[in-house]
Amino acid sequence: MDPRHNPYSPGAGSIPPEFSGRDGIVERVDVELDRIKANRSARGFVLYGLRGVGKTVLLNKIALEAEAKKFHVMLIESPEARSLPAIMIPIIRSTLLKMSKTTALKEAISRAMRALGGFAAALKVKYSDIEIGLDWEKEAGVADSGDLDNDLMDLLITVGEAAKETNTVVVIAIDELQYIPENQLAALITALHRTNQKQLPITLIAAGLPQLLARMGHAKSYAERLFEFIAIDRLDMDAARNALIKPAIKEGADYTEDAVEHILEKTQGYPYFLQEWGKHSWNIANSPLISRQDAIDATDAALAELDMSFFRVRFDRLTPTEKRYVRAMAELGAGPHRSGDIANLLAKEVSTTAPMRHLLIKKGMIYSPNHGDTAFTVPLFDGFMKRIMPVFS
Ligand SMILES: Nc1ncnc2c1ncn2[C@@H]1O[C@H](COP(=O)(O)OP(=O)(O)O)[C@@H](O)[C@H]1O
Ligand SMILES: [Mg+2]
Repeated sequence: MDPRHNPYSPGAGSIPPEFSGRDGIVERVDVELDRIKANRSARGFVLYGLRGVGKTVLLNKIALEAEAKKFHVMLIESPEARSLPAIMIPIIRSTLLKMSKTTALKEAISRAMRALGGFAAALKVKYSDIEIGLDWEKEAGVADSGDLDNDLMDLLITVGEAAKETNTVVVIAIDELQYIPENQLAALITALHRTNQKQLPITLIAAGLPQLLARMGHAKSYAERLFEFIAIDRLDMDAARNALIKPAIKEGADYTEDAVEHILEKTQGYPYFLQEWGKHSWNIANSPLISRQDAIDATDAALAELDMSFFRVRFDRLTPTEKRYVRAMAELGAGPHRSGDIANLLAKEVSTTAPMRHLLIKKGMIYSPNHGDTAFTVPLFDGFMKRIMPVFS
């Protein structure tokens, strides 16, 4: 069919034509945001799951809903390779500026602005990627000790107070939260713990890979009381079916039942893959009714495309020895696998492979679903590894 009318949208963060199966979560977050606004006790959220399950799209959707409520959303998309204070400073600043435009009550906002000035100046020594404006005012003794834990707490308190005074809510929305180093993550959690105790209208909604669970627990044991951790998984069969067929139906096309079954089986309900298979099925089909044969041909085309993009970008970030470790995992199947079994296959001791496993976790390639277990953060990655490195030796 005409690719001009192809409704599907494979791609990191691409808005899907049919946002399927996440209404319950959106509603849960919505309730919590209203509770914060109403000054009731509420928790932040951490959305965690594998790559391609739709975390970024969901986080963006939540951010939009919060903005529709006239909340101030600080959306932080990719904290990799930059320090948390360096990322947060400009976004807090623009949020405060926006806030001050909507109200006559400017004192608390000015105070937060000065806290931000002190915060940036004091931390600039330790975090050289911080950028400061020459004209930024400071207030002696607020958020300017040079210690991230104390200063971030002071700063978020002043921001929360500004929000409270101007009757709004500040939502810090951070994607790929797992990339934030543990000490900075701990500082953020501590600060939010304090603003939460003070019942200030500021909260965190974050998304990231499953290793976030353990990382946040390590960083602060009370993280689990402060945040609701929501597993974002593949879509259930009904939601997956809708994600696939509704966009086609809206464009006047449809799938035969056996075509749908083939695609649900191959994609296992993973949103990214549903978009990819939908896209190729559409382009391959010669009539508005997508057949099983079209779907089978789409499998080849979709895998070829994923091999060049979604899978490939992860693979390209690995060193040769890391590739071999990951290839050994693939040899064992989809996983999770015992770390000992992987080491065995590599003819090494677990203690020898542990540092590499740690680096791969840091790179976001694998994670540990349970103690001593190792799994891919990218669904169907085992198949890719076998295609790109056919022989394991
Ligand atoms: N609920 C959903 N229904 C249908 N497609 C979705 C849904 N969520 C995400 N997608 C699609 O899946 C792909 C990956 O989404 P993304 O949010 O980038 O995943 P993640 O951040 O978990 O890696 C995108 O192409 C997006 O359009
Ligand atoms: Mg994402």
